[in-house]
Amino acid sequence: MRNKVRKRTACSVPFLLCCSSCTIAVILILVQLYTLTSDVHQSDDDVFLQELETVEEETMQVSLPKRRPSSRKKRRHAMIDEILNKSRDAFFPPRKLSVDPRKDTVEGNDSLYYFPGRVWLDTDGNPIQAHGGGILYDHISSTYYWYGEYKDGPTYRARDGPQRVDVIGVGCYSSKDLWTWRNEGIVLAAADEENVAHDLHKSNVVERPKVIFNERTGKYVMWMHVDNANYSKSSVGIATSDSPTGPFVYLHGKRPHGHQSRDMTVFKDDDEGIAYLIYSSQGNSEIHIGPLTSDYTDVTPVVTRVLVGSYREAPAVFKHRGTYYMITSGCTGWAPNEALLHRAGSMMGRWEMAGNPCVGGNEFFRATTFYAQGTFVMPLHGLADWFVFMADRWDPNDLGGSRYVWLPLRVGGGSAVTMSSKRVSVFWHGRWRLPPGWRNGKTTVGDTEKRIL
Ligand SMILES: *[C@@H]1O[C@H](CO)[C@@H](O)[C@H](O)[C@H]1NC(C)=O
Ligand SMILES: *[C@@H]1O[C@H](CO)[C@@H](O)[C@H](O)[C@H]1NC(C)=O
Ligand SMILES: *[C@@H]1O[C@H](CO)[C@@H](O)[C@H](O)[C@H]1NC(C)=O
Repeated sequence: MRNKVRKRTACSVPFLLCCSSCTIAVILILVQLYTLTSDVHQSDDDVFLQELETVEEETMQVSLPKRRPSSRKKRRHAMIDEILNKSRDAFFPPRKLSVDPRKDTVEGNDSLYYFPGRVWLDTDGNPIQAHGGGILYDHISSTYYWYGEYKDGPTYRARDGPQRVDVIGVGCYSSKDLWTWRNEGIVLAAADEENVAHDLHKSNVVERPKVIFNERTGKYVMWMHVDNANYSKSSVGIATSDSPTGPFVYLHGKRPHGHQSRDMTVFKDDDEGIAYLIYSSQGNSEIHIGPLTSDYTDVTPVVTRVLVGSYREAPAVFKHRGTYYMITSGCTGWAPNEALLHRAGSMMGRWEMAGNPCVGGNEFFRATTFYAQGTFVMPLHGLADWFVFMADRWDPNDLGGSRYVWLPLRVGGGSAVTMSSKRVSVFWHGRWRLPPGWRNGKTTVGDTEKRIL
């Protein structure tokens, strides 16, 4: 009875009040529903991105040799020998496990999945030859171009240098989805055999080609490391083309700022379009950074020396919300080593060390950059905090058979944090892919504001 009365009392509150409570309830429900539906709207990609952040452990056992060699270098080589002897297939899976865009079409399970370390075929069914590469997004053709060393020739040991493949040229592949790559041919070829003095003569070395577009001249500008077989020339080469697919015309080679230049990259900044050359110098003991001329075909006299005495190579530079980052490797030839992250408030500013960005796998994976060496970090248009870390898993006995290791990289911490509280992580995954929504054209260049992730 009392309850009934109470109920009645509750119902007997003035109509207006009752109605407003109902209204509030309805509004709350609507808000809830709206939140739910907008969650559903975003969740596809969010779920995918969350998956990319999950830490994937590797159970593979790595036992070190019983008698430990004295030097670190010998120990590293012994460890790598041991691992390759025991588990070569895990790092260099056999050809039958290739990633094949002809087979794995839209319906296929493996479709659009990256399998770091597997042979990666182009749309003709041939292994992609773009080692030490980098990617250009061409706004004119809305296409990605992957440039790299074309090394499909015999590997041999140089008389006074490391293992090598004679120069064939720079390969170029095009893609819309970053997974299906079409061979666009050799866009900068080796020089004529008789032209022995040429930087691009087959007896020399051409490594780490990178292409940027110059809006002022309308030219595609390629920078690369040119050297001789014993790496004593230590220079950069520059070539230009009117088209992203070449042919590139070789302009000249030089020592930038009069200094040695071995592993290098170029980085084009988004504000003011200033581009920079970043190179290992002084016997690889330090990195030099200098702005390019406005047509990008030369350096200016301005240069800064960074990471002095730290012996880093294979620089890959990217920018996130006003902070500049660089991932480098140590100097151990074709053998893998630990990656390090560096960061700075400006390209020409002070660069500080920020640790090893590799997450997941196991200790060996993290100590060897997932058995690879970085070459490029590619922004993912529309996914503001995500990048693809591109690396090479070199096979010194068959350099042309070296594998590609692409992994998701995230800058965590959002926009409201200081530079030092942001964390850059490269997540290990044996198999992964970009969010399907990313590929469906929802997030194309220029639409970056549409999605806040
Ligand atoms: C790996 O195998 C090679 C040849 O098969 C052998 O010479 C070498 O000693 C082995 N290394 C280790 C660490 O087992
Ligand atoms: C596709 O994936 C499912 C679930 O992972 C698996 O059960 C199935 O065998 C796969 N099919 C093929 C053809 O690989
Ligand atoms: C390196 O090779 C070049 C020719 O390619 C030769 O002129 C030079 O003397 C060599 N340098 C060293 C240090 O061996």
